[in-house]
Amino acid sequence: MIFTDFAPNEELDDSLLAIKLIFQPWKWKKGKATELTKKLLERKFFPYHCFHFFLSGRAALYYVLKALRLPADSEILVQAFTCEAVVLPILANNLHVAYVDIEESTFSMDPKDLQQKINSNSKVMILQHTFGIMPQRDKILEIARNNKILVIEDLAHGFDAHTLRHDKYKTIKLLSFGRSKAFSSVFGGALAVSDVALNQKLKKMPLNLPSRLFIFRQYLYKILTPLVKATYDLHLGRLIHAVSKSLNLWLPEVSLKEKQGKPDFSIIKAYPNGLAALIIHQLKKVNKINNRRKKAVSSYLKHLPKSILPVNFRPVNLHLIRFPILVDHREHLLASLKKEKIIAGTWYDQVVAPKNVSLITMRYVAGSCPKAENLCKKIVNLPTNITTQQINKIIKQVKLNFK
Ligand SMILES: Cc1ncc(COP(=O)(O)O)c(C=O)c1O
Repeated sequence: MIFTDFAPNEELDDSLLAIKLIFQPWKWKKGKATELTKKLLERKFFPYHCFHFFLSGRAALYYVLKALRLPADSEILVQAFTCEAVVLPILANNLHVAYVDIEESTFSMDPKDLQQKINSNSKVMILQHTFGIMPQRDKILEIARNNKILVIEDLAHGFDAHTLRHDKYKTIKLLSFGRSKAFSSVFGGALAVSDVALNQKLKKMPLNLPSRLFIFRQYLYKILTPLVKATYDLHLGRLIHAVSKSLNLWLPEVSLKEKQGKPDFSIIKAYPNGLAALIIHQLKKVNKINNRRKKAVSSYLKHLPKSILPVNFRPVNLHLIRFPILVDHREHLLASLKKEKIIAGTWYDQVVAPKNVSLITMRYVAGSCPKAENLCKKIVNLPTNITTQQINKIIKQVKLNFK
């Protein structure tokens, strides 16, 4: 089975590391791994930044908004076509959300709509690099600068490391180490900040570590998911998956509370050393994984029918976390791929995902971002961190649907 949503980053070597860590419980909560993660992130991606770690990207966003101490009527600009994990920390800080429509060719904020949504209460913008790219970055950052809006760049899906390394903008960078993001320790997140005063405030934020049981469950996820993927077709994987779910061995990515539109403070915590040890391993192999992603992107661009590629979508030589295609009869395509053991994804099938979240609770006004609403009806995403053989199989099966 080829998965898009399920454990896209987990491989046998991650599993072996987690087994080793299970037998070193003294490293679970405290140790040197967080410091080493800082050094790696600084060296590889963000020189001249200070790092702050959290148990999730949500927690990072919650705390940075808190540290900014914004006036009560402040508006936070967010693109539609996002996840509720971005919106919940805003609401939990009693701030207002202003949704900006997206461009069909980039899946990211439309500079024209952004200009229209800015008003005197617009204080912060969350600039999402959807699927890991942000082609209009310079243009949008200039608009933010001209309007004195502070920018938090949401790099949860990934980012173009070359552009950010040689950056002239002093934005706040938000990273997620969630299981479906660019690199995974199952749960985790960080802020990279260059502003001295904000760094001081963030250092003073009181944070508790998660329990040992929480950390143990993330190791189980790392250990079992590569096994599930490798043996799914032999039924063993199916069985492990079903048993793990029914025994609650793994925590869901979005909790029940969050699905009801409420913030879940059980993941608004500190990042334990034992999870940092997992992310170090992923960061060390990031080039290999990104090369695999680049290869998938270029094959999809070259071989898939032009009619299903987003118009003017040009992620040439970029390592997208997922590859988007746009189709009219989505359910039909998803079902036909599933028959061939390919589970495609649907990020995002609602302007604020996941699908069952109430848009009223997310303060989204129906019709306010029509382009995002339209894309949500058509989008299908294909996996990129897969083998050449799997890429070819997907291309062949998708093409059969559009003969
Ligand atoms: C675009 C985006 N930003 C931020 C986040 C938050 O990341 P985390 O899951 O680590 O809280 C998510 C999570 O789904 C996301 O999709």
